[in-house]
Amino acid sequence: MNIGAAVIPAAGLGTRFLPTTRSVPKVLLPVVDVPVIHLAVAEAAAAGIGRVIVIVSPGQEAVVDYFRSIPALEEALERRGRGDLLDLMIETAGMAEIESVVQDEALGLGQAVLTSRPLVGEEPFAVILPDDVIWRTPPTIGVMAEMARKMDANVIAVREAPSEMLSSLGVADAAPIGGHLYNVRGLVEKPKPEDAPSNLAIVGRYVLMPEVFELLERTEPGAVGEIQLTDAVAGLLSSQRVYAYRFPGFHVDVGTPSGLLKASIYESLQRPTLAREIKTWFSDLA
Ligand code: UTP
Repeated sequence: MNIGAAVIPAAGLGTRFLPTTRSVPKVLLPVVDVPVIHLAVAEAAAAGIGRVIVIVSPGQEAVVDYFRSIPALEEALERRGRGDLLDLMIETAGMAEIESVVQDEALGLGQAVLTSRPLVGEEPFAVILPDDVIWRTPPTIGVMAEMARKMDANVIAVREAPSEMLSSLGVADAAPIGGHLYNVRGLVEKPKPEDAPSNLAIVGRYVLMPEVFELLERTEPGAVGEIQLTDAVAGLLSSQRVYAYRFPGFHVDVGTPSGLLKASIYESLQRPTLAREIKTWFSDLA
């Protein structure tokens, strides 16, 4: 089984980052100094998925421009003897083969994924939500792709979430089958607290069979009036197996200002020089 491409939906309204997102796409906001979209593409590339389809909203070409090479900048860096930055520029532009599709209107994550259908074709594919940043080697999507290949099945990522958060997330009804794996029996998007089937919340990593597109075509708007990917994956359960992978590693939802701040703090603590500066600054603040 070949995973043909990674789809990265980046066409949401980004209302939680207004006013910034009036002109800056949310995925170009950085964790320390690296844009969120870079982290998502790097995860796909590290998993050996070299073809990436980014879904953008109208006018957000800057997201795709980010991955173009910039000869004038490269020459300037070379002249200044900044080989380190030059390597970073070349590596960034060469990470993956980037294609894009425009989602005309933000009608939901499911509809966003559906717009990639003509480019994905009839092959299994990965979905990486850039808002979900996971620090983990080997890359989570790569581990999931391997599982999907071995079991010839769909795999979604989950994590245990506090009960008060479940009503804003997709939640899995799933039975443990060993290791970090669960057999999924049902999925529900944004359940009422009393209807949540477990505390296993869906996190933005999926390896899906192309049949999900057929279901997305037929999926009616669900929770909050949007076409939900969760509803289409739930629809797959009548004909295919879906496994949930409770991934290890540190995860932050950077789709909120506090999440993006936490991610930057966590990432800065992973870099020795920056960590010293930040720790000293925090203790001075206290
Ligand atoms: P969210 O609903 O969490 O984020 O979408 P949002 O809509 O971008 O931001 P808020 O809620 O207004 O602050 C989860 C992911 O799905 C993408 C988003 O870009 C994000 O990566 N998405 C969502 C789309 O691509 N299209 C949509 O219509 C909705």
